[in-house]
Amino acid sequence: MNCIRKSWTLDPVAQNKIEEMSNNQPSFYVTTPIFYVNDAPHIGHAYTEVAADVLARWHRARGEDSFLLTGTDEHGEKVLRTAEANNVSAQGWTDKLVHDAWLPLLETIDIDNQDFIRTTEARHEQNVQKFMQKLYDTGFIYQGSFKGAYCVGCEEYKNKGDLVDGTGEYEGQEVCAIHSKPVEQLEENNYFFKLSQFQQPLLDFFEQNPNFIQPESARNEVVSFVSRGLDDLSISRSKEKFDWGIDIPWDDSHITYVWFDALLNYITAIGYGSDEAKFEKYWPATTQIVGKDILRFHAVIWPAMLMAAELSPPKQIFGHGWLLVGGEKMSKSKLTGIAPNQITDIFGSDAFRYYFMKAIAFGSDGSFSWEDLAARYQSELANGFGNLASRTIAMVNKYFEGEIPSPKDYSDADKNVIAVAQKAVCDSDAAMQQVAINEAIAAIWTLVDELNNYITVQEPWALAKDEANRDRLATVLFVACEGLRGLSVLLSPITPKATAKLWAALTEGKLGELADQILQDAGEWGQLDKGIKVSELEVLFPRIETEK
Ligand code: ME8
Ligand code: MG
Repeated sequence: MNCIRKSWTLDPVAQNKIEEMSNNQPSFYVTTPIFYVNDAPHIGHAYTEVAADVLARWHRARGEDSFLLTGTDEHGEKVLRTAEANNVSAQGWTDKLVHDAWLPLLETIDIDNQDFIRTTEARHEQNVQKFMQKLYDTGFIYQGSFKGAYCVGCEEYKNKGDLVDGTGEYEGQEVCAIHSKPVEQLEENNYFFKLSQFQQPLLDFFEQNPNFIQPESARNEVVSFVSRGLDDLSISRSKEKFDWGIDIPWDDSHITYVWFDALLNYITAIGYGSDEAKFEKYWPATTQIVGKDILRFHAVIWPAMLMAAELSPPKQIFGHGWLLVGGEKMSKSKLTGIAPNQITDIFGSDAFRYYFMKAIAFGSDGSFSWEDLAARYQSELANGFGNLASRTIAMVNKYFEGEIPSPKDYSDADKNVIAVAQKAVCDSDAAMQQVAINEAIAAIWTLVDELNNYITVQEPWALAKDEANRDRLATVLFVACEGLRGLSVLLSPITPKATAKLWAALTEGKLGELADQILQDAGEWGQLDKGIKVSELEVLFPRIETEK
């Protein structure tokens, strides 16, 4: 199987090449949106974070230099109005929310990010100004006047077609179709970005890079949107209205439009304008994960901004689906958000991560339900995986005084387990390359199911009754332990806590750290044949009494 790295079978020339490649590791740069700090996070934000983190951990496990960026979007009218409503300064409000809610979220759901950017940091503000100045100097920004509607909830200029008739307290007014609230009528002298010039370059780029916008449905939507023509984009707001933003460098009576400011976080965080070597190393981003609500900003405005600055667009924008509540997008503004720790306090972060990545096809919408979560926790994590691990280790303790036995001859059933394990490695890796996270987990789960089936059929407890079956018993338990070793590696990006416990119990430190295992080698059979003493394994997914 060509996806399994077998460096030890290679001739010296090929061996050298591999070493060269690993000294010069490919980088994997993945981002999440930076979130508005007008309120605390809900599970929709956590969903995006987990997806990006699973991808980042997966690529790190492949030996790549993997960098996950996340952060907060702190300027704009929405955040300012929220701060005012709470009688604090905008900076005081964002500082508090970042420290009390957004940074703790990363702990709650076990995110291993390499950086966290806040748009109020100097490293961001200064380089946004550099970028703006460059576009102004090269003629991509001009002054004009703007008259039209603005939705503060969306932080977006609206066309007629984006508005609908209000109902209830807004009867008789036009409201934003997304927020169901009235829009502001703006009449300002603004600076504009020549977005209209980028229609053809964008369409050409989409055609030449079919994977740039994923999934396919997102790509189609964007292509047809751009095909209908693009208007220039207002990228400043007059300070007469409000001043919570980054000054336009050549005109301090204006601040930068919040989206123009926010999108640039993806490059200011990795050294645009300040650390060229780092920037060269990570840009263009490998994949930028966003919810489909903000797809157009990322798939249209963002690449056009980069093209204007003579920088490459990212390699991919992936627009995932929405978590729905009662058929509608879960949202802060509609008060339908569920806080991530409501789930993790009961089920733990591993279950949170596993559930959302497995239960929803990445790219499609999905409805969260406590019943579904509890059912999958019990059947897939506790009974499927956790129980497999604990009973295998318990049998090694019981029948071999805790030492993983060496295998004897492999039967067809044993060979089948090995084949399933190796296929699980290949298939899950291929799916992760396609950002099909749920499919990757399903591929890994073929090994969980196979091992459970194998133990049921081989009946090690029955073999143990007759000393004549000693060799067979040794082989069966060895195969089961090896399968668990492979699962620890494959599942470590998804359920890092449980796999760390399992790895520690299973390897006695003799195979190095779990984090140092190479994912592509997870199916390389026989690694545990070292006279390893297993240790007690605490229950990975304890039984939960739910009344939800
Ligand atoms: O739009 N289902 O920030 P935001 C799934 N600051 N994902 C959801 C979700 C749901 N119901 N609700 C929110 C902004 N999300 C800008 C982004 S980027 C340069 C600036 C996630 O706080 C999803 O990733 O409104 C969505 O795109 C994002 O939160 C919007 O977060
Ligand atoms: Mg939003």
